[in-house]
Amino acid sequence: MFALQYSELGPPDVLTVGEAEEPHAGPGEIRIAVRATGVTPADWKLRSGAIRSEFRPDLPLPHIPGMDAAGVVDEIGEGVTGVAVGDAVFGVVDLAKLGGAAAEFAVLAAWAAKPDALSWEEAGGAAGNVETATRALDLLGVTAGTTLLVEGAAGGVGTVTVQLAAARGATVIGTAREANHHFLTGLGVTPTTYGPGLAERVAALAPQGVDAVLDVAGSGSLPDLVAIAGEARRVVSVADMDAREHGVHLTWAGSGDAPGLDGLAVAADLAAEGRFTVPLGGVFPLTDGAKAHELSATGHVRGKIVLTVP
Ligand SMILES: NC(=O)c1ccc[n+]([C@@H]2O[C@H](COP(=O)([O-])OP(=O)(O)OC[C@H]3O[C@@H](n4cnc5c(N)ncnc54)[C@H](OP(=O)(O)O)[C@@H]3O)[C@@H](O)[C@H]2O)c1
Repeated sequence: MFALQYSELGPPDVLTVGEAEEPHAGPGEIRIAVRATGVTPADWKLRSGAIRSEFRPDLPLPHIPGMDAAGVVDEIGEGVTGVAVGDAVFGVVDLAKLGGAAAEFAVLAAWAAKPDALSWEEAGGAAGNVETATRALDLLGVTAGTTLLVEGAAGGVGTVTVQLAAARGATVIGTAREANHHFLTGLGVTPTTYGPGLAERVAALAPQGVDAVLDVAGSGSLPDLVAIAGEARRVVSVADMDAREHGVHLTWAGSGDAPGLDGLAVAADLAAEGRFTVPLGGVFPLTDGAKAHELSATGHVRGKIVLTVP
């Protein structure tokens, strides 16, 4: 099969599309012919070596990036029920493998039926962020009546998180640069800018205080976010590798926290009801994987970057 891959860590141009060994669905897994796959910051951070070793296992090379995908089921592993060859699905790879989706075929460890309301591109970039957002919202106990602050609401994880939180009945305040405020309002979020003075701006928007804070930005603002929440246990970060120094829990796929995989079916149902979308910040063919990684590394993507697979 063909795949986007790299044999050495380095700049985006280490990425090439070439031949790779076809994967097969093991017990409890399915294989899909990939139509679209998401690009997440972890993809370029792994490729460049930017993720500190305590947060990742050694990366066997060559490595195929891509944590999630949408496509058509073409192989069903032992013990799998409720899905058939030919079904359209979206889902995540075995996240411990840190990739494998940016290819002609990908093995999914968890999935849900692709709702017609989501295009292949939207569905292809949905699953990883839905899993992350669900895991984080569960850790924070976000439910009806929660006031949630999301630091970094305009990106891939942020846009999914705010919609899933709103669907739980939470009131959501999200930070973004001013150019993204109208966009966030459209997702049901009360926007404000990040940076100095955040506590005062949030206090004006939520005089009763916020119950929970999710840091998606990893921009070094945890001391402010803890002060806004009142205590560190009300703050979770998915992005700040120094979170522990601030008493804040850092969650990632290997952190041992309960995975948010039940969020896949929740997001699919919400999409079918018109209450969940995947705003796309960039769509590239697989052969332009390097361009997609470069865009992701700017840190200012609005929504999700996706690669399409021919
Ligand atoms: N732990 C996990 O399980 C997990 C899973 C997925 C992702 N992540 C991590 O989570 C982070 C975000 O991922 P993503 O996919 O959402 O990234 P993304 O799509 O690249 O989005 C980044 C967003 O951050 C915003 N931003 C930039 N500087 C900011 C600042 N100083 N304060 C607040 N917001 C700021 C940008 O909005 P503006 O343009 O408005 O500035 C942009 O929309 C990355 O570090 C990624 O590695 C962790």
